[in-house]
Amino acid sequence: MPPAPALTPPGTDLRADRLRKLPPFLFNAIDDMKRAAIAACKDVINLGVGDPDRPTPPFIIDELDKAARVPLNHQYPACYGTGRFLGAASAFMQRRFGVTVDPKKNMVALMGGKDGIGHLPLALLNPGDGAIVFAPAYPVYKQGAIMAGAKVHVLETSPAHRWTPQPAQLSDDLLNASKLMWLNFPGNPTGVTIGSGELSVLARRALDHGVSVASDLAYSELYFDGAGPVACPSLLAAPGIDHLRDHVIEFHSLSKTFNMTGWRIGFAVGHESLISALKQVKDNYDSGPFNAVQDAAAVALERFDDPLIIDVRHEYQVRRDAAVAALRQIGCQVEPPRAGIFVWARCPIDSTTGEPMSSWRFVEKLIEEAGVVTVPGAGFAESASDWFRLGLTRETPRLLEAMERIKKLRF
Ligand SMILES: Cc1ncc(COP(=O)(O)O)c(C=O)c1O
Repeated sequence: MPPAPALTPPGTDLRADRLRKLPPFLFNAIDDMKRAAIAACKDVINLGVGDPDRPTPPFIIDELDKAARVPLNHQYPACYGTGRFLGAASAFMQRRFGVTVDPKKNMVALMGGKDGIGHLPLALLNPGDGAIVFAPAYPVYKQGAIMAGAKVHVLETSPAHRWTPQPAQLSDDLLNASKLMWLNFPGNPTGVTIGSGELSVLARRALDHGVSVASDLAYSELYFDGAGPVACPSLLAAPGIDHLRDHVIEFHSLSKTFNMTGWRIGFAVGHESLISALKQVKDNYDSGPFNAVQDAAAVALERFDDPLIIDVRHEYQVRRDAAVAALRQIGCQVEPPRAGIFVWARCPIDSTTGEPMSSWRFVEKLIEEAGVVTVPGAGFAESASDWFRLGLTRETPRLLEAMERIKKLRF
């Protein structure tokens, strides 16, 4: 009799190499600290996550209610997007950014922006191809590229340049070794916005070397200070960019604008060849967002300038101002972000060293001594090792309470 096959010893790491290459998930370490504070009976205020606290507007919920009662909607969804959803999304691109697209060729519905962002590298990159990511950044740009076996070129930005990418960072050699470049303005975690001209310069430099450019516009509607929609431009409307000719793609999400993170809905828009490659990946991985959610999202996009959305912007601005004032009081270097749902600040000076505290040390102190959760900049980039991110997505009285607790700390 042949010998019985050896059993895999318990505790063996069965993961594929691609998973082992991923950096540790930043929020796990923070969750551990949060749990320890809760176990010590602390009343914890979580300003770590970017998950809006306010409910989805009622007109969107009403439409879901109606659409969920239509039996046809209970079948597999229209994977690339229903005519109604894509029609509303293309009308949004036209009204909001002045961009004309063919919904069938240039758009695909997504189960949230993360779906498209995570899957795009699988659609475009062969193992070993280069992907350019400016850091600090939303982690999925890098992780998605790693999962596709690509080589990630992380270019760190710095406070000296307002955390904005510099065209000089894009050398010919780097671009010649790359196939995809990510841009994200308004940025997570920095809240930085750039104008249409700057966006065009960066994208053009990559495109002229045959590098496709992906722009993530998840926070496009959450701008402050009366800056107006022009503060958050679309790459597709940037001067000298033509989505019929240039290999550009942009990711839009309903999550943050409409308080719909749990609904999982967004869309990608751009050059037909990039969209069709992404569709091919999605054909093989999922079946698209629930049709009823697509109907409700269509109504949301039709009313992107509704007074309720203007009110959301106003509320975030009030919270931002309170957070910036409190952080300045404890000696943090901080500029009020012009958009987004985060405040990005330098840790206060440590009185024993005369230098800004390390972000892990500061975040730990905030949790332990104030019961307030934030995110260390070191988790996003080396250049941000003494910066931290504070989310504005808690009810205003809770946020104000967190700020009062922070103001009492000594460093
Ligand atoms: C910059 C950025 N892009 C995309 C997303 C993904 O959002 P969703 O998948 O909910 O659309 C997030 C979520 O936090 C984000 O911060």
